[in-house]
Amino acid sequence: MVDYNNPNLLVTPNKVRSGKIEWRSPSNIALIKYWGKYGQQLPCNPSISFTLDAAYTETTLEYGPKMTDKPGVSVDFLFHNQHNKPFADKIERYLTSLLPIYPFLSQIELTIFSSNSFPHSAGIASSAAAMSALALCLCSLEDELFGTLSDDKQFDQKASYLARLGSGSACRSIYSKAAIWGETQEAQESSDLYAVGWGHHLHPIFATFHDDILIISKEEKGVSSTAGHKLMDDNPYSETRYMTVQGRMKQMLAALKAGDIELFGDILEKEAYSLHGLMMLSNPPYLLLRPGTVSVIEKVHEFRRTNKIPLYFTLDAGPNVHLLYPDLHKEVVQAFIKNELLRYCSEGSYIPDKVGNGPKQL
Ligand code: DP6
Repeated sequence: MVDYNNPNLLVTPNKVRSGKIEWRSPSNIALIKYWGKYGQQLPCNPSISFTLDAAYTETTLEYGPKMTDKPGVSVDFLFHNQHNKPFADKIERYLTSLLPIYPFLSQIELTIFSSNSFPHSAGIASSAAAMSALALCLCSLEDELFGTLSDDKQFDQKASYLARLGSGSACRSIYSKAAIWGETQEAQESSDLYAVGWGHHLHPIFATFHDDILIISKEEKGVSSTAGHKLMDDNPYSETRYMTVQGRMKQMLAALKAGDIELFGDILEKEAYSLHGLMMLSNPPYLLLRPGTVSVIEKVHEFRRTNKIPLYFTLDAGPNVHLLYPDLHKEVVQAFIKNELLRYCSEGSYIPDKVGNGPKQL
């Protein structure tokens, strides 16, 4: 069992040099969903995701000696070069929660600049990209100050662990192409504490898969993912969910290894329906789907039936639709999106994305 708490990670305050660290980290799309958590951000079931490419956060962390004797974490946070109080408070709370792991964070001064490749108002979940980018910066900072994370595998594992503490799904963004988070017999070394890379197991057809994100609504969600996870605690169907998801995980991994797109698509869509079904069965129930979401789903089914092209959808905890399909069908699918689906999108917006190679230090 890993224990990253380390009271020895302290600096000699007047010896800290100033420096700057920068990471770009992508979002990810869950194929098997993490929905329900316990303890300190631990998942009630294993999940697997594709790492994305075009939807990412870039984070710059500037550090230097602390000029004040204010106790605790001293951090300034700018989002798209502007001060943003709610985000700054969230980051300060997150860094404070990491003090048992990184006690040196109270000995230095930090300025964090963060920006997304997609508009914040696009209504797409950005916490995975944002928290993974920040966690990677923190691990680079540890390595710079103490030289303790030179091993790539250990670096990734710790970055994934720290990202998880910021937002569960963020722990999967650390890895190229695909990642599994949560203990499962199906994946060696899998853990509830951090994600493990799984991209090397993908059949080549999936390594170049597309995920085009249709922005159905840019409005802030009525119920956040964090609140949604909480509602799973009293959901009368949660036990059934945790039982069925194990079998789905097994089938999904088999499909991803074998290149079985039909099985992949079947499980993918069942997961999207299950996630939103669980929301509708929560107490109180809620609905994040919008009329446009339903219209797109119907159109996708019709397109698949008539054209015999494997185009499948999934949803995260919101109304936007992710369309997944193999690279060899990109012309015809993208024409279909432009001609038939953009009319359901808010201001015709969508983000063409695909499976990506994971974070990059800049
Ligand atoms: C539906 O990771 O956003 O996208 O851990 O509370 O930050 P917190 O929640 P978050 O939940 C993501 C839920 C999901 C499914 C998934 O990504 O696996």
